[in-house]
Amino acid sequence: MTDTTSTSTGNTTPRTAPLLELRGIGKTFGNIRALNGINLRVDAGEVTCILGDNGAGKSTLIKIIAGLYGPTSGEYLVDGEPVDFSSPRQALDRGIATVYQDLAMVPLMPVWRNFFLGSELRRGVGPFRMLDVARMRRIADEELRKMGIDLPDIDAPVGNLSGGQRQVVAIARAVYFGARVLILDEPTAALGVKQSGVVLKYVSAAREAGLGVIFITHNPHHAYMVGDHFVVIKLGETELDQPRSELTLDDLTHHMAGGAELDALQHELERAKDPQVDPLHDAAGEGPDVQGL
Ligand SMILES: Nc1ncnc2c1ncn2[C@@H]1O[C@H](COP(=O)(O)OP(=O)(O)O)[C@@H](O)[C@H]1O
Ligand SMILES: [Mg+2]
Repeated sequence: MTDTTSTSTGNTTPRTAPLLELRGIGKTFGNIRALNGINLRVDAGEVTCILGDNGAGKSTLIKIIAGLYGPTSGEYLVDGEPVDFSSPRQALDRGIATVYQDLAMVPLMPVWRNFFLGSELRRGVGPFRMLDVARMRRIADEELRKMGIDLPDIDAPVGNLSGGQRQVVAIARAVYFGARVLILDEPTAALGVKQSGVVLKYVSAAREAGLGVIFITHNPHHAYMVGDHFVVIKLGETELDQPRSELTLDDLTHHMAGGAELDALQHELERAKDPQVDPLHDAAGEGPDVQGL
């Protein structure tokens, strides 16, 4: 599965519409405006990174894409057709799969069982149908190997795996069950450097398998390691939307650090160095009580 599914050039395939597209998406909760005028395009064989601070609107955005929330305004298209999902099941049926941070796995069950959780294979007929354990074990093992994951024991409880390995099992599962778009909500947020590396490797593997990957993170370094396209959301609005070719890691880091605000802060600090201005008195009443220090 490589070149034939790539629609980014659109020359050889008749389908030129992106896998998924959002046009002017907005979402309000009561009088809180969580998203406003968001545009997004996800193509096969690309990693689209969505970055933003806490409260920026990232989770709300992926919940709309995943069919958990309907948008308050705007259009959502899959393969160029408008969709109006009323449940995650409907999104999944169109190949849009989400791997949430708190993975839907049962720690005490073996890896293969978790791989097939909710979609168990059975054999036999009528009342004698039973779980096809042998086939599920074999397929889980094959699929994990295909992704380059070599677990010592497919029968080990998932709870014994590292956080990174669990994320990877969830990615392999989504790929096996036919995901075309894979949404990863902060998969590296709770992981150390080495574990994050493991997950990032499989984010690339999913892209190589021809999926359109949406990678949510607030870490510009992780994003830049795997991303083809970067969207920074701030207070519910798109602050930056650029392909890799137009953006350096420094640009991205600067944006994520709150670029303009940092410049302003630096200016404030410069001013504070000025002996005419006493920063402690200026800040009185705002920060912690400095007088007792
Ligand atoms: N179900 C909800 N009801 C009310 N407000 C919400 C709800 N979900 C999110 N919000 C608000 O929308 C904004 C964006 O939140 P969220 O999408 O969770 O941001 P992020 O995932 O980037 O941290 C925040 O101000 C948050 O408080
Ligand atoms: Mg979130």
